[in-house]
Amino acid sequence: MIVPDDGTRVSDPLIALRRRCDAALERCLPAMSDTGPVAQAMRYAVTGGGKRVRPLLVYAAGQTLGASVESLDPAACAIELIHAYSLVHDDLPAMDDDDLRRGRPTVHRAFDEASAILAGDALQTLAFEVITGGVEVGLPAAAVLAQCRELARAAGIAGMVGGQALDLALVGSQPDLDLLQQMHQLKTGALITAAVRLGVLAAGTVDAEHATALDRYARDLGLAFQIQDDVLDEVGDSAITGKAVGADRERGKPTYTALLGVEPARGRAEALLASALDALAGIPRDTRLLTTVAARLVRRVR
Ligand code: IPE
Ligand code: IPE
Ligand code: MG
Ligand code: MG
Ligand code: MG
Repeated sequence: MIVPDDGTRVSDPLIALRRRCDAALERCLPAMSDTGPVAQAMRYAVTGGGKRVRPLLVYAAGQTLGASVESLDPAACAIELIHAYSLVHDDLPAMDDDDLRRGRPTVHRAFDEASAILAGDALQTLAFEVITGGVEVGLPAAAVLAQCRELARAAGIAGMVGGQALDLALVGSQPDLDLLQQMHQLKTGALITAAVRLGVLAAGTVDAEHATALDRYARDLGLAFQIQDDVLDEVGDSAITGKAVGADRERGKPTYTALLGVEPARGRAEALLASALDALAGIPRDTRLLTTVAARLVRRVR
């Protein structure tokens, strides 16, 4: 039984951690009384039904290695703020030009394009402000510095932004599987790997072999996660995913389903899940939280 920060008791640890993260994010966001369009757009982008996948991975990796849940809150929030910003910009007309996310109008539709761009910018800087809060919950300054570097790298040109650029450059073309994998690993995998590493960094000294095993877990999971996103874009139910279905195909997006077909793509995601779980076998800890997160992420329907 885990008690989330809001005092309620929840028997599913992942639901409890998601609620904990929601409450912690609420404390980071501009106050509800700030009625300016950018502040409102920031709140809108972060609330409203995200699965909190990356924070769950921060908590799961960190707790597996013995970090306290309190010491993980800043990194969990920071990576979710980066993720939220990436989605706001991903949906813009200059990028994927999407109107629907989490079953609601995208940020630039609910507000306007300029507010969406600025809200994304402000969420990104807020993430770095928030992650420095690690020193206030007991983390050594050196660990927080390493977390900042990890998050910055994974969010930037060597990670998510680099992958998004590749995604746009490849529209209308048929990249080979290697290039597609590289793109997925950058645009989505980099932040998934960073989530696990942020948890590892909060735990302090970690056996190098175990850190490598967790990196492999994260790498396989990150790729599987984006493959499942591609599958859901092709055959998901918009009422459940909260996003348009068939949008990737319509725009000539480079996806696993376009290259391999739906069933082979699903098979690849399952094989990657098996490989991710296999990587956990060498860690002499209770890895059930990491196992459960992985299975739920890859087999999700939204
Ligand atoms: C969607 O991410 C974009 C990808 C990188 C695949 P999520 O599926 O984690 O989106 P939310 O936050 O739960 O809406
Ligand atoms: C998004 O990939 C990856 C990001 C870095 C935001 P998608 O463009 O496939 O994500 P959705 O399907 O719009 O959520
Ligand atoms: Mg995109
Ligand atoms: Mg998109
Ligand atoms: Mg998608």
